Amino acid sequence: MYHDFNFASVLTASARAAWQIEDILPEGAALDFTRPFLPESLARTGAAKGLSAGERRVLNHIRGHEYLVIFGLVEEFILPFVLDHARPQLNGDDARVRALLNFASEEAKHIDLFKRFHARFLDGFGSECGVIGPPEAVAAEVLRHDPLAVALVILHIEWMTQSHYVGSVRDDGDLDPLFKSLLKHHWMEEAQHAKLDTLMVEALAEGRSEAEIQSALDEYLEIGMFLDDGLKTQTGLNLDALEKATGRKLDEDERAALAEQQHQALRWTYLGSGMTHPKFVATLAAISPTARDRIAGVAPAFC
Ligand SMILES: [Fe+2]
Ligand SMILES: [Fe+2]
Repeated sequence: MYHDFNFASVLTASARAAWQIEDILPEGAALDFTRPFLPESLARTGAAKGLSAGERRVLNHIRGHEYLVIFGLVEEFILPFVLDHARPQLNGDDARVRALLNFASEEAKHIDLFKRFHARFLDGFGSECGVIGPPEAVAAEVLRHDPLAVALVILHIEWMTQSHYVGSVRDDGDLDPLFKSLLKHHWMEEAQHAKLDTLMVEALAEGRSEAEIQSALDEYLEIGMFLDDGLKTQTGLNLDALEKATGRKLDEDERAALAEQQHQALRWTYLGSGMTHPKFVATLAAISPTARDRIAGVAPAFC
């Protein structure tokens, strides 16, 4: 066994880590637009060529906006998936039922939190930022896949939020305190979700042949490519928002170079940081060493 947790231990840890939205985003609190929102490890706006310091900060804020909406979007498919997974076994193990329902309830709280942060962002930013979606269409596309593939995507997402918080601590860069607190509090609850997802992946992989596991991995990669297409579109929307906010039209070459650099930054934020997380890799290795090797082969393209 490569881990020592179970539904009961995660439930106990969740109760200790739980917080209220008002603790993180009090009434009347405003984002500080003189500071960056996302750590440089995710935003990579400091390395964006051809932009002034002020334009880099605006792009960092736009990346912060994107972070809020993309998380809102992925949490909208995590919530129904977890409920569907819990539903058939409501008469089973009490700790399992309570842990999964608590997981779903926390994701509903996160959706609400990300929406409230989004509203505060719009209060202060002053111009329009485009968003991919709608979330229901993304959720429908993801959820039509093999449940093991979806559970692996969700496991990847939960562990990647751990890397995001670690990045924000290691590489503070004088971040806006509210945004930093968002990353921290999300990390606190997601740490328990990642463990529950591990148990869900193990349950869904149990009894499957190696060929069936590889087929689920094909679908995991298919979902990854679908999300990557969305990230490419979102990168373009981010650059549109940058031009609108700064009033400066980028020339064609500048825009192409920035789009390439930023698309890679989004890939790292939402794909690479999950695929390479040591705990995600450990779960893959436990269900199939071949699966681990396949992901190790493609991950560098998203880092
Ligand atoms: Fe969450
Ligand atoms: Fe989560």
